[in-house]
Order: sequence, then C-alpha cells, then structure tokens
Amino acid sequence: MSLPTRRVLTMIAAAAIGTGSLAACGANDAETGGGDDTAAATIALLLPESQTTRYEAFDKPLFEAKVADLCSECEVVYFNADQDEAKQQQQVETAITQQVDVMVLDPVNGASASSLVTTSQDAGIPVIAYDRFIEGADYYMSFDNETVGELQAQALVDAVGDTGNILMLNGAPTDPNAAQFKAGAHNVLDASGLTIVAEYDNPDWSPGNAQTFVTDQLSSFDPTQIAGVYAANDGQAGGVIAALTGAGVTDLPPVTGQDAELAAIQRIVAGDQYMTIYKPIKIEAETAAEVAVALANGDEVGDVGGTALSDFEGVDSFIFDPIVVTTDTVGSTVVEDGFYTVEDICTDEYADACATAGLS
Ligand code: GAL
Repeated sequence: MSLPTRRVLTMIAAAAIGTGSLAACGANDAETGGGDDTAAATIALLLPESQTTRYEAFDKPLFEAKVADLCSECEVVYFNADQDEAKQQQQVETAITQQVDVMVLDPVNGASASSLVTTSQDAGIPVIAYDRFIEGADYYMSFDNETVGELQAQALVDAVGDTGNILMLNGAPTDPNAAQFKAGAHNVLDASGLTIVAEYDNPDWSPGNAQTFVTDQLSSFDPTQIAGVYAANDGQAGGVIAALTGAGVTDLPPVTGQDAELAAIQRIVAGDQYMTIYKPIKIEAETAAEVAVALANGDEVGDVGGTALSDFEGVDSFIFDPIVVTTDTVGSTVVEDGFYTVEDICTDEYADACATAGLS
C-alpha cells in the first residue's frame, strides 16, 4: 500500500476506533515519543499489565534488544495497559495515529481485541498477537497454554497424592490464556481423586485478590483440610502463600505457579512454593521481533529460529514448549538457561536454602 493511502486509512481508522482524548491516552513510558520520522520503521509493543514481573523484566527488554539487533534504524514504541482494557484501546489508537508500521499486541481482553485488530489492519498496520490469542491477527506466538495447565495440575497431583481438598485459582476471564490454563488443569484434576472445594477466576490476575480469596476460604476450612493449591501463576501463588502464612500456617501445602518469577524461584528453593512453569520468554520475544521486523520490511515470514510456523485457530502461529521447575530442577532449567544467575536467586536470605538445594 502506498504511503499516502496508508496515511489516510490511518486517520480514518484512528477516528473510528473511539473518541478518547489523544492527549490523555498515550503511553506510560518515557521512551514513547511517537513515530520517529528518521526511523526505518516503527513497531508498537503493547503489553497488558505490570504486576506480573515478566513483562517489564523480560518481554520488553528482550523484544527491544532483538529489534535493535535486526534493524538498528527501527524504533519501538512501548505501551503498558496496566490491566485496563480502555487504556489499551486508547494506546492502540495512539499507535495508529503515530502511523506505526507493525503492532505487537498482548491484549488485556482477547475477545474484544479482535476489533482493535480489524481497525489496525484497516489502517494498513498488521497485528501480531503476542502471548494471548486474538482472532484475525496476522500472526500469533505463545506457549502451549493448555499444556501449561496440565503440567501444573500433574505436578500438584504428584505432590499431594490421590486424595484431599484443593483450592483452585485461575487467571482473568478476559485473558484467553487463562481459559486454556484452566482447561488443561481441569483435564488432570478432574480425573484425579482430588476434590476442588473452592474455585476462583481472579478478574485481574492480582496477588491481592488471590490472598483475599484464600483468606476468605480459611474461614470455612481449617488449613489442615487444604492439601494443596492450584494457582495459575506465580503472582497468585505469592498471594496464596501470604494468606496461608498470615493465618499462621507453617507447614505449607504444595502450591503451583507459572512464570518463573524470581520471587517464586526463591520460594521454591526455600520450600514455600512447590513448582512453577518456566516459559523461556527469550524465544517468544525474539520471535515476535523477527516477525515484526520482517513485516515492517515487507519480507516473507517463514519458520523462525527453528520454530515452525503452524496454524492456531486459523492464524499463522509459533507455539513454544513450557518447562516445569521444582526445587530439584532450578539449576538445570532457569539457571542453565541464563534466565537467572545463582547470585540472583541465592541472596543472603536464601543462602542456606540454596546450599541445601545444591545451588552454588
Ligand atoms: C498470561 C501469561 C502469563 C501470566 C499471566 C498474567 O496470559 O501467559 O505468563 O503473565 O497472563 O499476566
């Protein structure tokens, strides 16, 4: 599409997307100053929240570094929606107005983001659905999310055994991944002898909501009646453990997680959290950067870095494998992969636990 044509489409699309004030919408990152006229191409990266540490500690810097590596003249404009769907819509609107060349969008609300995709595409801007699926996106990359849920649940069954009561804390219903984690976990838990005595869909994935939910449950159940807790991610696992320790529980039941957050890895080493799922974000962020730069340059997108392009619900996709981490495998997973150093994990507070776990 010729540049003038795209410019007109961009303006029409920006007008169509909503009536939010452009002055109020924008990015919450100092780097985001809008499309740089001297840049070879501008790529918008839109992430959904910042309570989960992965986004700003890994996804953003890894994506930016790979784009810089592939295209030194390309510019990345970054937005974080802070779990606010309306804010993300305004950020998409801003990116369209800035005439970015490609949009990499990790949606707060997967279902409603398909209209954002259409509007962007109408403005000639292709959209990569990043980590969370969006219908109609040009490309999608994520981990095998149903397998994530199955691995978490299987680890819990392995740790707890075949009988007992468990609590189940799922992710935000607006997040399509949350539904996949939940489905995968149910595949395993429903076939086990464990009883889910209370189940919660945390509307914003927040650790605070997870803590409140578990604290409330402890008014109905004695902690000794809780044999384990399925928590869909590490943020929630932290809330669960805070609720249990706050209620005076010293012998914690197995608690699951996901994201291999540093605090979770430390809890695992210390024996407070049973497991997490490590998703090597580098592969995901770098694949997104490869695809984004290819699209910005008008190049063909094929297999990237050994990962084959496949079809996921009609969208060209790259799907990666998640990895289980328990005390015994911290060294052979996140440390060996360079995600964390032993020094990152084994701070003074965890020195003894690290020695016991053989991490040094
Ligand atoms: C999911 C994502 C997880 C976790 C969670 C909360 O979509 O795949 O890694 O971060 O959202 O943001």
